[in-house]
Amino acid sequence: MSDGGSAFTRRTHTCGELRLEHVGQRVTLNGWVHTTRDHSHFVFGDLRDRYGLTQVFFGDGDAKLLADAQSLRPEDVVAVSGVVRARPAENVNAERPTGQVELAADRLEILNRSRTPPFSIRDDATVSEEVRLKYRYLDLRRPQMQRNLLFRHQFMQAIRNDFTRQGFVEVETPFLTKATPEGAREYFVPSRLYPGHCYALPQSPQIFKQLLMVAGYDKYFQIARCMRDEDLRADRQPEFTQLDLEMSFPDEELIFATVESAIAHAIETATGAKVPRPFRRITWGESMLRYGCDKPDLRNALQIEDVSAEAKGSDFKIFRGAVDAGGVLRALRVPGGEALSRKEIEGLEGRAKELGAKGLAWSKIDASGKPVGGVAKGLEDAAGKALLAKLGAAPGDLLLFVADRLKVACAALAEVRRQLGERFGGVKKGTLELCWVVEFPLFEYDEDEKAWKAAHHPFTTPIEQYPGQIVKEPGAVAARAYDLVMNGWELGSGSIRIHDRALQQRVFEAVGLSEEAAQRKFGFMLEAFEYGAPPHGGIGIGLDRLIALLLEAENIREVIAFPKTATATCLMTGAPTLADERAMRDLKIRFELPPAP
Ligand code: AMO
Repeated sequence: MSDGGSAFTRRTHTCGELRLEHVGQRVTLNGWVHTTRDHSHFVFGDLRDRYGLTQVFFGDGDAKLLADAQSLRPEDVVAVSGVVRARPAENVNAERPTGQVELAADRLEILNRSRTPPFSIRDDATVSEEVRLKYRYLDLRRPQMQRNLLFRHQFMQAIRNDFTRQGFVEVETPFLTKATPEGAREYFVPSRLYPGHCYALPQSPQIFKQLLMVAGYDKYFQIARCMRDEDLRADRQPEFTQLDLEMSFPDEELIFATVESAIAHAIETATGAKVPRPFRRITWGESMLRYGCDKPDLRNALQIEDVSAEAKGSDFKIFRGAVDAGGVLRALRVPGGEALSRKEIEGLEGRAKELGAKGLAWSKIDASGKPVGGVAKGLEDAAGKALLAKLGAAPGDLLLFVADRLKVACAALAEVRRQLGERFGGVKKGTLELCWVVEFPLFEYDEDEKAWKAAHHPFTTPIEQYPGQIVKEPGAVAARAYDLVMNGWELGSGSIRIHDRALQQRVFEAVGLSEEAAQRKFGFMLEAFEYGAPPHGGIGIGLDRLIALLLEAENIREVIAFPKTATATCLMTGAPTLADERAMRDLKIRFELPPAP
């Protein structure tokens, strides 16, 4: 047994390396004991490192060696030396790259013992996510996690290479900074030297990258960590990584071409899959109409149709009523959908109702082209016929309708469309469909605060139909903003920025930020814009999301080495922990906690 600090025999090869060509060579492997099989006169072991597994044979010639081998337990760390030999034909393991050989050991050094691990280090181990996260360092030994992190590394490396090839400079921006407006809550770091004052952790490098444009670094990128205190979901973490970039003198097309090159190159390098370019483009308005959302899965051929005009003349109360009340009638034609049972349709209706819809009306088209079942009666009048013609209804179709407020109809049909994608829309696993959604609205109305706020962030250039539209009709103004979407996930958002001080001030005012408040928050930025700010624009792309999607992982935690839970805790370190009293005294902070229940 090693005394902990003494020398050991360093590996000559990794556990994934040995092949027939090494037979006869003397080698040393270092790694973890994966399994052992004790046959009393000899022991077989599998030795593991992140490169693979190699079978080791401990023979019966040497009693000490055999006894040491028999004492091995999973996850002990060892150095094993010996000679590589070919396995007899009946013992070859064709599924393992090293399966044709084994190491006949004549020396075993036990470098460190392991406690019995809480789960075995294999991909098919049944273990809860809580336990995986508590023992993340063991979870990360599993081959799947190692493949994920390696893939992530290769992907980031390819991104860096392509941006460097395109003349971009990676610049790091501060963590300890001032609040950045990205719509989430900030994490704050209290200052010891200035009691009562806090740094904010950046939600993104947005302001700094714009200042780098003022500084003349016309092509900036950064693989940047961002921190946001927001409600978490499968695709959100409190700290995450963005591929952040900004360019001077761009238009949308230049930014799209630049990003497409880097993303396509990285995907091709990491997966071997060819990514067709240019990516498709679709306006926000078209996306909301056809797909009911602003992140369409374009692998899915099903499309939504607006049939409000037809509904206006209908005698059918459900259709007409919604339109008369200022809502819409939207329909989804599902070719071949007649195969869906009543129960399956009810299941879809249940989802639509969860999203606020009053119901999901349906009808099928029979072999003669006539609507049957569900709301077929409502489709018999002239308006119904016009509606069927608009939808291009054909035998075998299932027609699904939501008559409701615009927002509800969009959300409900988007979800129904998503659920039917694989069976009827041609969605295939393993395929990628990237697109740009362009011309987002500049503002959105915040019902809670009864105020307009920036849909992206307040540095985005408006597309005004006439001067002053941002004040007179804020809801109708489009923006030079775009999202990168893949398979129905928002990967990134960006915009052409405002570089004119006066226009910036007008947009601040439209979102209720007075000159004085703007000065307080962004005075340094507004001042910088008075020293020759070039036209500029860029984008931030969520790398965790992109990598998770490429690996078909269900949750971005699967591609982050040390992630937080859905309630923003780290099960391994126990963070966040109760504040240290001495540190809080130094910071002049006192917590007023509610009494313990
Ligand atoms: P935005 O706020 O849209 O834009 O963020 C860009 C992308 O970052 C990813 N993302 C997240 N990923 C994981 N966890 C989160 N909590 C999280 N929040 C966002 C998403 C998202 O599309 N500064 C602007 C970009 C710009 O205008 O250049 C920004 O941050 O994939």
